[in-house]
Amino acid sequence: MRTPVIAGNWKMYKTLAESVDFVRELAPRLAPFTNVERVVCPTFVALAAVGAELKRTDHTDIHVGAQSVHWEAQGAFTSQISPTMLQGIAEYVIIGHSECRAYLGETDEQVNKKVKAALKHGLKPIVAVGESLQQNEAGETATFVGGQVRAALVDVSADEMANVIIAYEPIWAIGTGRSADGATANNIIGGTIRATLAELYGSDVAQSVRIQYGGSVKPDNMAEYMSQPDIDGALVGGASLKVNDFVALVEIAAREKGTQGA
Ligand code: PGA
Repeated sequence: MRTPVIAGNWKMYKTLAESVDFVRELAPRLAPFTNVERVVCPTFVALAAVGAELKRTDHTDIHVGAQSVHWEAQGAFTSQISPTMLQGIAEYVIIGHSECRAYLGETDEQVNKKVKAALKHGLKPIVAVGESLQQNEAGETATFVGGQVRAALVDVSADEMANVIIAYEPIWAIGTGRSADGATANNIIGGTIRATLAELYGSDVAQSVRIQYGGSVKPDNMAEYMSQPDIDGALVGGASLKVNDFVALVEIAAREKGTQGA
């Protein structure tokens, strides 16, 4: 069975102090939903402090993720953060987010290098893929998204896939208030992404990898996604910045997936 996973991608929001205050309020309210995996992805500068706050308040079942990583362990790469620097601070790392691809020029090849580096250093990648509006309207979604998945996973072994999460985030749905409907998202996730994984790794691996939906996920559309059989959670931007919304998303995932905590 795939444990649903809800990850809050805080992007370039919340200062260090705001991140710590937020998680102090959020963590106890997420605590009851033990069968949904809950992840917060603050900015790099708040990662250690958020982790320390979770430890101090005994909420270590809330996991911490970074929003990117470099592929080298160290080197002359001004501004970059290496996987070894994240060890012990972050458990997850988002790789290939469409904002990094669009604004920072991250390529499929770099995404693959980052995924491999993360895995090598014990970090769990959340690999984001998704098509543009233009590609969607041209009917190219399956080919494009399938290609992104293949490119991200070059030389990643079947065993390593146990530590990989994929997030399907149609670019036109991110931060726009426009979201894919549940059945369409399920179709891409099940019909395209799982089918691609099955070709690469066989059906057991394809059925065991967790695949999230992302893009304007809110409490009022969460049930639509979580009621879909192939969608195992959500990667959430805007709504994860509000305590009540974050709690509602996790509560809905627990209810719809039938995995309410004890
Ligand atoms: P959004 O962002 O929920 O604000 O659309 C999702 C994401 O970028 O991961």
